[in-house]
Amino acid sequence: MANSWPGVIRAYENYLPFSASTEVVTLNEGNTPLIRAGRLAEAIAPGSGLRLFLKYEGLNPTGSFKDRGMTAAVTQAVRDGAHAIICASTGNTAASAAAYAARAGIRCLVLVPEGKIALGKLAACLAYGAEVIAIDGSFDDGLDMVRTIVDRDAIARHPISLVNSINPWRLQGQKTAAFEICDQLGGAAPDWHCLPVGNAGNITACWMGFREYDEHTGTGLPRLLGGQASGAAPIVQGEVVAHPETIATAIRIGNPARWREALDALDESGGIITAVDDEHILASWRMLAAKEGIFVEPASATGLAALKQQIDCGEIDPTDKTAVCVLTGHGLKDPDAAVAQAKPPRTLPATLDALERYLANT
Ligand code: F0G
Repeated sequence: MANSWPGVIRAYENYLPFSASTEVVTLNEGNTPLIRAGRLAEAIAPGSGLRLFLKYEGLNPTGSFKDRGMTAAVTQAVRDGAHAIICASTGNTAASAAAYAARAGIRCLVLVPEGKIALGKLAACLAYGAEVIAIDGSFDDGLDMVRTIVDRDAIARHPISLVNSINPWRLQGQKTAAFEICDQLGGAAPDWHCLPVGNAGNITACWMGFREYDEHTGTGLPRLLGGQASGAAPIVQGEVVAHPETIATAIRIGNPARWREALDALDESGGIITAVDDEHILASWRMLAAKEGIFVEPASATGLAALKQQIDCGEIDPTDKTAVCVLTGHGLKDPDAAVAQAKPPRTLPATLDALERYLANT
């Protein structure tokens, strides 16, 4: 049977500011599964009746949630006559931008922190033909650079479109994750919507989506739970982190662009933002793979780690609640982290004897 899912812009066209005649740049992103995680619920809140769901955004075309926003940003960039797009990125925005630029036939430049971008993201950017510029600075430095260059270029004849989430079109596309979650839950928002927070575009976009859907279809509103890595937790600490550090390189950000909007969303939803140690991020990352068969990159486990932490400390009562954890990026994005966390594979001679002995002894 043909797959009729048209991508998020056409699927939710009544909620997005694109006319029917707009030529959409899409890879049929969205429509990711919402997976019930019974074993995980029992592990983090035994006997509580917690209904835990995982929104597996790693199954988007370039392996992260960024594709939702990128279809909108690149569609608009082409509409504006841009010949190129540019972004700073910890890797996923870059890979997504590179793919959608290839699809649109325009140039793509990405600035990434040298040595701090996971292998799968770099590989994808190069494969899609982006111009990858590694800078000896952080994501935040890169974002300052691209913001400035685009302002200068605004007076030039061939505009470069900035596709970081300060671009409002990115949020328009990304808000569709909230719509899908409500649809998949049968027309209702969850009690808790848990997600990692880096540059804070996604938490801002999701809240926008939940509010719009509630207004139009009466889904109700969730409370937001944001997780930052302890070594990169500016919003939790209330101050810029000059040298952010975390194994969750996707959210290694010290000065989020959507900081104020994230605080508003948290406030309006009666939400919580908390910092989680790398150790606990990795523990949740391991549980997702080992208990539910879902392999994500480390940053993507931060929403779950935050939920577990808040249940453990009594701030969240899981009794008969529905919680959704957004798993933002696929595990194959960061194979080095996965291999470093695991025991190395066992080596055996290529004989049946050796395999029999192994089975007998394990
Ligand atoms: N999870 C993953 C896998 C990410 O790549 C990001 C952000 C986030 C969570 C946080 O989302 O920034 O909207 O709060 N990655 C950006 C990038 C910064 O460049 O790919 P956010």
